[in-house]
Order: sequence, then structure tokens, then C-alpha cells
Amino acid sequence: MPAKKILITGGAGFIGSCFVRQTLTKHPDYQVINLDALTYAGNLETLRDIENNPSYRFIKGDIGDKDLVDKLFAGGLDYVVNFAAESHVDRSISGPEIFTRTNILGAQNLLEAARKYWPRSQTARYLQVSTDEVYGSLGPSGCFTEETPLQPNSPYSASKAGADLLTRAYFHTFGLPVLTTRCSNNYGPYQFPEKLIPLMINNALAVQELPVYGDGRNIRDWLHVSDHCGALDIVLHQGAPGETYNIGGHNEKENIYIVRLILSELKKSETLIKYVKDRPGHDRRYAIDSGKMEKVFGWKPRYTFEQGIRETIQWYVSNQDWVNSVKSGDYLKYYKKQYAGR
Ligand SMILES: NC(=O)c1ccc[n+]([C@@H]2O[C@H](COP(=O)([O-])OP(=O)(O)OC[C@H]3O[C@@H](n4cnc5c(N)ncnc54)[C@H](O)[C@@H]3O)[C@@H](O)[C@H]2O)c1
Repeated sequence: MPAKKILITGGAGFIGSCFVRQTLTKHPDYQVINLDALTYAGNLETLRDIENNPSYRFIKGDIGDKDLVDKLFAGGLDYVVNFAAESHVDRSISGPEIFTRTNILGAQNLLEAARKYWPRSQTARYLQVSTDEVYGSLGPSGCFTEETPLQPNSPYSASKAGADLLTRAYFHTFGLPVLTTRCSNNYGPYQFPEKLIPLMINNALAVQELPVYGDGRNIRDWLHVSDHCGALDIVLHQGAPGETYNIGGHNEKENIYIVRLILSELKKSETLIKYVKDRPGHDRRYAIDSGKMEKVFGWKPRYTFEQGIRETIQWYVSNQDWVNSVKSGDYLKYYKKQYAGR
């Protein structure tokens, strides 16, 4: 049987790079193509260790590029896993358009090519990697299930919800073998230092203020990136086309709890905490019910939050070269604009 070919989009980003690495390890017979536009969030430094693996090929390009995507499908693909996205909520507030272009139109371009090249395929799979943020905000109790209505509140989550709905429509209208996953907040190595956990670790290490939105009591449900990628591999190979699967860690934490934990691990003073004006439309609480993943596949996260967060803090301490390399001029300008005067 010829080796399977998998297209991983956004594979130079935080979660996609972990999935590229896991796929090369778990399926050494697969040919892995990583299509990534290398925006500010994509960095090839992250994949240095595997760049010469003969089963791996990197292509710099946009998922919205029709000719390029067509060419990749024409070369024969068995699986597509779409991570490519604009992923930062704050950026979607200051500039929503690119979110619509990449997250919705880009995903549609991939779905269209899949429709053209996979007519009546029983074995091909398109996996749309989505987020729990499409469900909106929760009150103090309850969890998001796969049946929770989509009520996105930010341009980011609205664009992800748009892609989810298109993915669903391509299944119902064209019979395309699609899968959708919705995961809670990820943490772990190689996350771009604008997101909560790496931002706080890096500021603490540099003895700079730690900007905390609002009262710091917004709750997120945290999952280690390698547990997310393990779940995606299961869904890709065993999931039923047309289905959606929630993936989460049962680790609900207030942001301020995480910030204090980081300061305590790094032996820095809590006086570094600076409460800043809240993000508009800031969802209060997310929590995922991943009962379907557990029941259908027997999936459970391997990391406890306590183990994962300590390892992650240590990773950032030991990998300051990586942090410095991804902090490009662009990122620094953005950072200033975002937090100056708050
Ligand atoms: N980070 C989380 O906590 C989380 C949780 C649930 C779901 N997700 C979803 O998982 C996916 C990956 O998230 P992440 O945190 O790794 O994001 P990220 O921002 O770290 O990486 C995104 C990657 O996509 C690439 N990219 C952007 N636009 C592109 C385009 N037009 N064509 C090709 N590549 C492009 C970037 O260069 C980058 O490498 C996203 O779809 C996100 O919505 C993220």
C-alpha cells in the first residue's frame, strides 16, 4: 500500500507544529506536507529538529491560494488537518478582516479543493481544528457539549464558527468526509509569547509588569498541547465523518490563579501584577464537556495541569533563544499598541 499523504496547514504555529512532530513519530510511513504562510505566529525555528526528516516537506503558502492548494491536492492527499488561522482574540478586535479571510475563506478554499479531488472517497478525511470559543461564554456552572448552540462573541470566534458551519455544510450538501474538533485553551512549549501563559512567564522572567485583564477572574479550561494533538490523531483516524468532538482538560482555572502560580514558580513578587482595562466582549467562562471523546474513544488527557504547567514554565526558562527569535519587530510594535495606556 502506498504511504499515506497528510497535509497539515498552519504547521509552523503552536499546535500545528506539535501535531507535525507527533505525526512523524506516530506514523513514520506517512508523507507529511506542512503548508504555512509564516505569519508573525509561524516560525520555522519551532521545527528545526525535524526539518531534514525525509518524510517531511515544508511549503510556504496561503491556504487561500487556489492554484497552490489545487496543486497540492492534485499530487494526491489522503488527509487534511486545518490548523491555519489567525488565532489571537485581541488582534481580531483591532483588525477583524484578516480573520474572515484566513479563517473562513481559507478554510473554504481547502474544502472546495477536497470536494473536487475526493468525490465519493470513503477513506479521505478533512479535519477542521476549531475552538470552544465558538460556543460563547458560560455562566458559573455547566459545560459546553457538542450540542451547545454557537454564540461567538469576538471576531476571532465568529470566524472560527463560520468555518465550522461551512465544514458542516460540505458534509451535508456534498457528502465530503469532514470532522470538526472544538478544543479548550492549549498551553505548552512553542506558544507565541502574546498568549496568556507564555506572556506571563516571559514578563516574569524579565521582571516586567504582568498585565491582567479586568479583575483576572475569567475562567479558561486548560489542556496540554500534546494531549490536544493526541486527541486529534484519534479523531482523524477513528472519527465518524460529519461528527464534531469536544476536546478539553477539565482544568478550569481563573487567569489570576495562573498568573500567581507562574510568579510563585519563578520566585517573583506579586507586585508585578498590573490589572488593566478589560478586553471588550471578554467571555467570562469556558468549560468543555469532553464526555463524547471519553465514551467513543476512551480518550483522556495524560497531563495533569500541575505537571504540565511546571514543565511549560521550565521549558520557557530553558528556551529563551526561541522566545527571542520569535519576538520580531512586528510583534514588538503590536505589543506596545495593545498595552500602552491601559
Ligand atoms: N491556541 C489555542 O488555545 C487553541 C485552542 C483551540 C483551538 N485552536 C485552533 O487551533 C489552530 C492552531 O492554533 P495555534 O494556537 O497553533 O495558532 P498559531 O497562531 O500559533 O498558529 C497559526 C499558524 O497558521 C499560520 N497561518 C496563518 N494564516 C495562514 C494562511 N492564510 N495560510 C497558511 N498558514 C497560515 C501561521 O503562520 C501560524 O503558523 C487554530 O485554528 C486555532 O483556532 C487553538
